[in-house]
Amino acid sequence: MRQIADVSVLRQALRALPGRVALVPTMGNLHEGHLTLVRRAREIADTVVVSIFVNPMQFDRKEDLEAYPRTLQDDANLLKAEGIDLLFHPPVQTIYPASMETHTRVEVPGLSDIFCGASRPGHFVGVATIVCKLFNMVQPQSAVFGKKDFQQLLVIRRMVEDLAMPVEIIGVDTVRESDGLAMSSRNNYLNAEQRARAPALYAALKHTADTLREGRRDFARLEQEATRMIAEAGLKPDYLGIRRATDLAEPRQGDRSLVILGAAYLGLARLIDNLEVDLG
Ligand code: PAF
Repeated sequence: MRQIADVSVLRQALRALPGRVALVPTMGNLHEGHLTLVRRAREIADTVVVSIFVNPMQFDRKEDLEAYPRTLQDDANLLKAEGIDLLFHPPVQTIYPASMETHTRVEVPGLSDIFCGASRPGHFVGVATIVCKLFNMVQPQSAVFGKKDFQQLLVIRRMVEDLAMPVEIIGVDTVRESDGLAMSSRNNYLNAEQRARAPALYAALKHTADTLREGRRDFARLEQEATRMIAEAGLKPDYLGIRRATDLAEPRQGDRSLVILGAAYLGLARLIDNLEVDLG
């Protein structure tokens, strides 16, 4: 595995590597969820590139950016063991050489303004901009993203479609702890007592999914019930929505392919999760 920080060195290295390239964009602090994405990339491509870049443009709060764990050496050891080809970890100066404020931006309107986009203004502009830029730098045929960030996955799919980017976007199922909590770098912010409460978010999503499968379609009421479950477990709900899985539009009675999205604050962490529900 080569570790590269410079774009021209990256391009030179890629020219020497054969076949299809898959990119797994990350912000580091890797866990089993990320490694599942890497393994998927390995299955579909000859060359696997993982990027690690803590992207300042997608943080709406300076404190969150500063507190974000940076664990490059541990991450590199994990990726080496997975047999990836290139680890690309550019410094901020390479990605945003001048001011970030005057840097060109990519915006996916509508999808970016609800749920996580409403709670974290500008977040998805930052995500779309960095992913677009990484695609241009690496020029992969495929890119692999986790479905835990379901809204992010849809934003990226829409960007790729709208801008005719020749990249296949692959979404991989969320990896969970044994009690259902979705794996996330942000789980490290939880103390033991909070960690014990954290699966309540998944429990509320699962309860809602089961209830939908049993035939209930009073979406607004179901959202309220799930929000109450989360609050009663001691989390501070941010949002809970039942939406169409394809575009996050409000569901109609006949829609079969739904997703339940939720976010909640717990101590210093903001947990997000979702469950897709296929009503056949
Ligand atoms: O999901 C993430 O880790 C980030 O949002 C991504 C896609 C790497 C862009 O910075």
